[in-house]
Amino acid sequence: MRLLAIVGSYRKGKTVDTLIDAAIKGARAGRENVEVEKIHLVDKNVKYCKNCMVCREDDPNKPIAKCVIADDMQTLCAALDEADGFIFGTPVNMGHETAIMKTFLERVCWVLARPGNSPLKGCPEPRTERKKKAIVIVSSGIIPPLLRRWCDEATALLKSVCKCSLNAKVVGSLYAGAVERKGIDAYLRKAFKLGKTLTS
Ligand SMILES: Cc1cc2nc3c(=O)[nH]c(=O)nc-3n(C[C@H](O)[C@H](O)[C@H](O)COP(=O)(O)O)c2cc1C
Repeated sequence: MRLLAIVGSYRKGKTVDTLIDAAIKGARAGRENVEVEKIHLVDKNVKYCKNCMVCREDDPNKPIAKCVIADDMQTLCAALDEADGFIFGTPVNMGHETAIMKTFLERVCWVLARPGNSPLKGCPEPRTERKKKAIVIVSSGIIPPLLRRWCDEATALLKSVCKCSLNAKVVGSLYAGAVERKGIDAYLRKAFKLGKTLTS
């Protein structure tokens, strides 16, 4: 099984990165043949989408649509297509995913999806037929888990992209809330358990 972990944090070795590592350990626990590639979006050259719609209008039978922009997204989209499962992680900044995560997701949207019919004609549906799994990890500095539903738009967007572009069912998510006050230790075990659900 091939997993791809996408880190949308600006900081290496901090909350999201550490929780993703714990989830990777969980995914590997008691399992052989779990291959994991971890990508830090901060290390990648990911330009803004141009809204040229070349991808959306490309042959719907192609697994990966053409993108006119030459940057790291060509390799990243190929890796997304090949993967069987995903770990997505992002800090919640101003209630949403980070700007680098959003830029990445906009570039993924129509390259791995084609126009479908649900819920409306023209909405994206995954190009791949392969059913995949995903987990989502988000962290916030101040807002505690109790207030998540009003202050976390990141998880909903990631779930939507998983469904519409990656054909991935989100089997669980972790909101590591108020880490500035609570620290991350309390969330490490949860991240490990969440990772296990990807491979069980
Ligand atoms: C520009 C910016 C906006 C932020 N907005 C929020 C917010 O809306 N709610 C919150 O609880 N924390 C907010 N934070 C704190 C981050 O969520 C927190 O630092 C992050 O989860 C830590 O992730 P990291 O250690 O992986 O960088 C914000 C931080 C920055 C830099």
